Amino acid sequence: MINGLRGMKDTLGDEADVYGFVIETCVRIAKNHGFEFIQTPILEETALFKRSVGESSDIVGKEMYQFIDKGQNDVCMRPEGTAGVVRAFIQHKMDKAGGVRRFFYYGPMYRYERPQKGRLRQFHQFGVESFGEANVKEDASIIALLQQILDALGIKARLKLNSLGCPTCMPPYRQKLIAFLDAQEGLCEDCLRRKETNPIRVLDCKNAHCQRLLAPAPRITDHLCGTCKEEFQTLRSLLEVLGIGYEVDSSLVRGLDYYSKTAFEFVSDAIGAQSSIAGGGRYDRLVEFLEGKPTPGIGFAMGIERLLELVKTPQKQREGIYLGALCEEAVEKVYRLGLAKRVCERVVVEYAPKSLKAHLKQADKKEVAIFACMGEDELREGVVWVKDLINKTETKIPLEEF
Ligand code: HAM
Repeated sequence: MINGLRGMKDTLGDEADVYGFVIETCVRIAKNHGFEFIQTPILEETALFKRSVGESSDIVGKEMYQFIDKGQNDVCMRPEGTAGVVRAFIQHKMDKAGGVRRFFYYGPMYRYERPQKGRLRQFHQFGVESFGEANVKEDASIIALLQQILDALGIKARLKLNSLGCPTCMPPYRQKLIAFLDAQEGLCEDCLRRKETNPIRVLDCKNAHCQRLLAPAPRITDHLCGTCKEEFQTLRSLLEVLGIGYEVDSSLVRGLDYYSKTAFEFVSDAIGAQSSIAGGGRYDRLVEFLEGKPTPGIGFAMGIERLLELVKTPQKQREGIYLGALCEEAVEKVYRLGLAKRVCERVVVEYAPKSLKAHLKQADKKEVAIFACMGEDELREGVVWVKDLINKTETKIPLEEF
């Protein structure tokens, strides 16, 4: 027997229903906020992720599904969605067109991580990316959009917020941090490596000993330039006005290199160690970095599999019609009626003739709202016998009308 690959799973049954409900909810709310659907390929040039997510990140450094294709191209299955959307934004000259463009997307992402609860090698994200709006109100709107999605799904999560500064304040802060790190003895291997490649990621180390050493480390929030400080303060006030609770976490650095200024994550304490259910931030330099016209950007992505564990689905409502034949002669009519009606609603058609009792039992199992059948009498009279399974009323409806 051939099984699915490690860290990759099938979605079916109730879980598939919840998956559909989550995507529908995300799409509806994103559209209400003026976002449009974009779909980019799963396979992209490896260079795209190296240049955007960053070579120092674990995602690019250790976790890529990368290979040389038959045309000798170095390609990679996307580990995240932002890079592809930014590439498309530039390739379709939306950077040159100017103005604000907002996109949402969803689909599978691939990271060769060690699988564990909440951590898969193929997982799904719903994400949004907004281009062309530098105003911090956009940051608050994007966080509000994410909060609305979580509320609609009945998910309670904590918002962690940080500012990663800009090209004015980040470099001097980085120097200060490096000087601090150089003076520490006993940092783990990962920290020593990150100190060289991307020192702020050292703050993210989960090792208890490192955390103790890092407790007095200089914090970016104390080293922001005037503009970043003011914008961060405005963002905090906006969130307060919007009634969105948050905690400032100056060690929230995110695992991707493209961020500047606002960075955020929603975490849940109810799903184990992999607690981040959504993350995002501003990437004002990324479009320029990928050779587009400088355009500010901000977005987030949520991990659908992690959400699935937390979603409260509304109670299932009876829905659609069940159609069955009581005798052989009515089978074809019922079959054709059923196919025709599927244009506008869910119809369950039973192919074989059965007794009324057997049909009703099956209709109940299929959770339909309306039961309809035809037997000899109905054929003769040109009607369909209909029972409303919610109100428990019974009627005969002329075929044409039905
Ligand atoms: P990220 O934090 O790497 O950000 O991923 C976003 C979310 O994807 C995480 O919060 C988590 O819920 C889910 N996730 C990540 N890795 C896994 C995994 N191995 N298994 C299951 N779920 C996972 C990004 O991907 C950025 N592109 C977000 C963004 C969009 N920033 C700006 N725009």
